[in-house]
Amino acid sequence: MLRIRALQGLRVSRSIVFRAPAARASYSSLMVHRNTPENNPDIPFEFTPENKKIADKIIAKYPSQYKKAAVMPLLDLGQRQLGWTSISLMNYVAKYLDMPPMRVYEVATFYTMYLRNPVGKYHIQLCTTTPCQLCGSDGIMAAVTNHLGISPGHTTSDGLFTLSEVECLGACVNGPMLAINDDYYEDLTPQGVVKLLDSFKDGKPLPRGPEGGKRKDCEPFSGPKVLLSDKPYSGPDITRPDL
Ligand code: FES
Repeated sequence: MLRIRALQGLRVSRSIVFRAPAARASYSSLMVHRNTPENNPDIPFEFTPENKKIADKIIAKYPSQYKKAAVMPLLDLGQRQLGWTSISLMNYVAKYLDMPPMRVYEVATFYTMYLRNPVGKYHIQLCTTTPCQLCGSDGIMAAVTNHLGISPGHTTSDGLFTLSEVECLGACVNGPMLAINDDYYEDLTPQGVVKLLDSFKDGKPLPRGPEGGKRKDCEPFSGPKVLLSDKPYSGPDITRPDL
């Protein structure tokens, strides 16, 4: 809960209270590193030989004096290898790119895509930003938390699912939606999301995209209305008459 009592230059007679979802509180832990048995600088990390080749290819895209520009893809590469972004991984990337570790920490703590704690096999990122909320993300959150028995920021006891509540994932037209690892599942219903989770549990994940094939991409449910032909418009006006 954030309480603002006065705004500079304005006379505010009553306090303004912003009530953040409980899960958001867990983001504050992203800013802090405390050594633990699972996450401390003494645990060795290095890229696999295959990933070293990939890393060197990525670095080669940048001028040699700017190789630190590769910090984000290298952190991502390391996270894909380890499953999350440990302090040792960050230190390794800093050394790999000849940059101060603090610069790497700054990047890894700014972007929530870098997971600073271990997650389950399937990392669920459930969007609850306004467009998804208006389309029913509260119901999806309730269905997921009830079915898995965990709240955002937690992992199921079998290590299969970690649930995170996140801001817009850029698929608002298909809300409510969530991501599981790299794939998006959209136009969700509370019943459908339970089936989706069960399909992962059973090792036969349902196809990604809009639930139940309700639509192919993000066209209207009643079918595409524009860009019906792949021929370029050749009329006199700049705008096509059907737009
Ligand atoms: S608001 Fe949910 S994807 Fe944009």
